[in-house]
Amino acid sequence: MKPPYDYRLNKPFLTPIIDIIKENNRIKTFIIEYNPIFEPVKINPGQFVMVWIPGSDEIPMSVSHIGKNSKISISVANVGDTTHLMHQLKIGDKIGIRGPYGNWFTSQDGTAIVIGGGIGMASVLSIIQDLSNHKKIPTDIKIDKIICINGAKTETELCFTEELQKILNEGDSLEICTDDGSLGFKGFTTEKLKEILDKEKSNAITVYACGPEKMLKTVFQICEDHNKISVQLSLERMMRCGFGICGLCALEPTGLLVCQDGPIFTNEILREITDFGKIHRDFSGKTYSI
Ligand SMILES: Cc1cc2nc3c(=O)[nH]c(=O)nc-3n(C[C@H](O)[C@H](O)[C@H](O)COP(=O)(O)OP(=O)(O)OC[C@H]3O[C@@H](n4cnc5c(N)ncnc54)[C@H](O)[C@@H]3O)c2cc1C
Ligand code: FES
Repeated sequence: MKPPYDYRLNKPFLTPIIDIIKENNRIKTFIIEYNPIFEPVKINPGQFVMVWIPGSDEIPMSVSHIGKNSKISISVANVGDTTHLMHQLKIGDKIGIRGPYGNWFTSQDGTAIVIGGGIGMASVLSIIQDLSNHKKIPTDIKIDKIICINGAKTETELCFTEELQKILNEGDSLEICTDDGSLGFKGFTTEKLKEILDKEKSNAITVYACGPEKMLKTVFQICEDHNKISVQLSLERMMRCGFGICGLCALEPTGLLVCQDGPIFTNEILREITDFGKIHRDFSGKTYSI
């Protein structure tokens, strides 16, 4: 689904950090007041905001929790300069937020398989909550079951496991995967996905995923090989502006922009993207193979 354009969202507003949760040694969740100056704006599962850390840069972050009373959270992996600075912030410190940007995940009938690779789990958390709500109180969308695959390199890098256990209902399942086998299935999330799809009988399946682009490419290929199962994949490309001006997040050869036309893409578009799972750009736009 595509959001309406709203020019007022392109200016950051300063908002205090209300709480900080340490998810593991690398990831912290920051709860903030989402309080745009004008009328309230609805945030949907999988959308992202641009986060400005005074004294440093502005970086894209998925909204990991869409709370009540205008509270949202972002879950940040400490990987570089700005995220490192963010990890030093305390409750009460202010950060700048603009957005939400991008399209969003939409709950589909049937069996939902949701995959989070590492910090990619932050982007899919809110669609898991949404699917679970639809399952508990069936509306026009009927969810049969949710299978969640949570993967990381090793046990200490897994995130949101306890929270996922609370969100999921009877009949749902949580599959833990670690590359080194320190917890759960030893291997990649994509191997677990293939194992599940080889056995799954339902013919209404949707796969939702976020994680490293190589993982997403394999998820896509597996789904295409299983009767072209519908996917909604959230891509993370280098971003500067977040709303379609700089062109840094363009997907070749379509010219589609991850920030504006994504970050969530479905089968029809993914089939057209020739650099999907192949390249990474730096801030100058230079491409590298991944
Ligand atoms: C739509 C979107 C949603 C995102 N959501 C989250 C999230 O919920 N939580 C989270 O921790 N991270 C998320 N990211 C990635 C996050 O934006 C980067 O990790 C961050 O910008 C790194 O900034 P830095 O200054 O700390 O690192 P830098 O010093 O700039 O770089 C450190 C490393 O991170 C990589 N990197 C830098 N920018 C990006 C980027 N935009 N996307 C992917 N890798 C990048 C660099 O290539 C380098 O390897 C998201 C990215 C996008 C595009
Ligand atoms: S980040 Fe600038 S066009 Fe997408």
